[in-house]
Amino acid sequence: MSKHVKTDRDGRVLSILIDRPDKKNALTHEMYAAIADGLERAHDDDQIRCVILTGAGDSFTAGNDLGDFAAGLPEGKPPVVRFLEAIVACDKPLLAAVNGPAVGVGLTLLLHSDLVYASEQATFRSPFPHLGVVPEAGSSLLLPMAVGNAWANDIFIAGRVLTAQEALSAGLVSRVFPAASFMEECRKIASIVAAQAPNAMRETKRLIRSNRAAVMERMAKEGAIFNAQLKSPEFMLAASAYMQRRLPEFD
Ligand code: COA
Repeated sequence: MSKHVKTDRDGRVLSILIDRPDKKNALTHEMYAAIADGLERAHDDDQIRCVILTGAGDSFTAGNDLGDFAAGLPEGKPPVVRFLEAIVACDKPLLAAVNGPAVGVGLTLLLHSDLVYASEQATFRSPFPHLGVVPEAGSSLLLPMAVGNAWANDIFIAGRVLTAQEALSAGLVSRVFPAASFMEECRKIASIVAAQAPNAMRETKRLIRSNRAAVMERMAKEGAIFNAQLKSPEFMLAASAYMQRRLPEFD
């Protein structure tokens, strides 16, 4: 449960709304757990045939809450790991409706979404080394596969911010809609998807996502390096520079 994640069932479509607009929908531990709950519910409920994930207000999500990063991981399995496992395992089509900035995990989670649509106001950024960390969520494997090395390196290494049209050219998203009709268009497509043959849809998704073992293996590898970096002076320096709204100066 999280007051910052709302789920809503409309027929066979489950919508998960990331709802923390004052913090640009940055994801806390509690929010990862609540999104994982929604994805697990969709996986388990045969009557749910499509999931929409979107953000409230003007952002999709600004990624992991930077305060949570600095505070360290809670005891037991980190909620972010549960979230990533749930997004990889979910056998129902997941439609990411990117309504605004998608930063960090906000971008990398798109690589686990089956349909990725952008409002023309969406932007995309994952400057991990600029923040003293490394790509996560299997993205060091999946992003180059999705968009090719040139775009992946522009995003991860140069820290480039992509517009919706650039994300379309890169192949990170497949359609861009005007902001005014964006959610309506996404809901229309979700209801078409939800009306398809459920077994064929589940098997189609399984075939397309047949590299799950390799993705999980890469995630574990990335996670170990990411967590070590979170404890490093590089991350401390980058995070405090972000909070003070200046660029970090690394030695
Ligand atoms: N964690 C915690 N708080 C965040 C956040 C994050 N990841 N991203 C934004 N916020 C907070 C800001 O600190 C600010 O809080 P305040 O009003 O209390 O000062 C509020 O959200 C608004 O953010 P701001 O940067 O002023 O909004 P903007 O419209 O100028 O820019 C973004 C929006 C999303 C482009 C920008 O906030 C951003 O790039 N954030 C991403 C941070 C990041 O590096 N995330 C990657 C984590 S791996």
